[in-house]
Amino acid sequence: MMVNASPPGTKALVDIAGVSKSFRSRHSTVTALGDVSMLVQEGEFVVLLGPSGCGKTTLLRSVAGLEKPDRGRIEIAGRTVFDSAQKIAVPPENRGLSMVFQSYALWPHMTVFDNIAYPLRNRKRPDVKGHVGRALEMVRCGELASRYPGQLSGGQQQRVALARALASGDQLILFDEPLSNVDAKVREAVRFELLNLQRELGFSALYVTHDQSEATALAHKIVVMRQGAVAQIGTPRAKLLVPSIGSMIQRRFDAPSLPYSSPSTASCGRAFARWSRTILSTRVSASVTIDLSGFVWMPRSCDR
Ligand SMILES: Nc1ncnc2c1ncn2[C@@H]1O[C@H](COP(=O)(O)OP(=O)(O)O)[C@@H](O)[C@H]1O
Ligand SMILES: [Mg+2]
Repeated sequence: MMVNASPPGTKALVDIAGVSKSFRSRHSTVTALGDVSMLVQEGEFVVLLGPSGCGKTTLLRSVAGLEKPDRGRIEIAGRTVFDSAQKIAVPPENRGLSMVFQSYALWPHMTVFDNIAYPLRNRKRPDVKGHVGRALEMVRCGELASRYPGQLSGGQQQRVALARALASGDQLILFDEPLSNVDAKVREAVRFELLNLQRELGFSALYVTHDQSEATALAHKIVVMRQGAVAQIGTPRAKLLVPSIGSMIQRRFDAPSLPYSSPSTASCGRAFARWSRTILSTRVSASVTIDLSGFVWMPRSCDR
């Protein structure tokens, strides 16, 4: 399957504005989200990247309606699904989205077919059989329809969970570390299929991971989270451009070589930013500008 590299639209499908959430117990309060705002455009694959405990799952669950934020507003497809001020909280099943979890969340007593058909029957969709069949073909699991989840490998179970989300036809699919339970080889294959399917079908994805290479492989846009807040937003392409732009500047301006050895670490990013600013400010004529604002500098803690 070819990747259709058409860029995502410019219309916001998900609009998260000023969302905060704390978990309180008798002895302590944990601020999981502090005033988070971000957008997912139509057809865009957005990855939430950050270390464990930084609030990724809480943000995803807030969009899904499984968590109720203390403050803020969330719109999906132009409809307010949560607003603390107006006391709006649309239940998860009415938000027009599907979720794929790390734990697959398949019903063990239902066949693969029935697992995928279940939400469609619930919503009284026509042609359930056709939808299930096509979704299973998309994830290359057509022959597994009559098996039970217990008779499948982890990779197959996750493909079935993905098929269930795809069959729903929802414009928005939320993913919470869906590949971290499958082994490395299968992970690569499913990641590749997911990338192709998203670019081909054009649904919007909000995808949580702590794995930087996964984020870079899948995302149109990476939102780096740290301690309950958005630390940076950028494109993975910008990050990949760092070494090549570096050598271009070096040749063009006869600059000293870059002050880093490995191009994948945060220190490299910071060093490059400092280095290029110095070079640009000292040697570049006024007519040459290079926009560095789109670059993603990965926090070191994401490098796992
Ligand atoms: N139900 C909960 N009760 C108490 N604390 C929670 C709950 N859910 C999440 N937290 C805390 O909120 C913070 C963010 O958690 P989470 O959103 O799961 O992070 P991530 O998905 O990035 O690992 C963590 O400190 C976590 O311990
Ligand atoms: Mg999590």
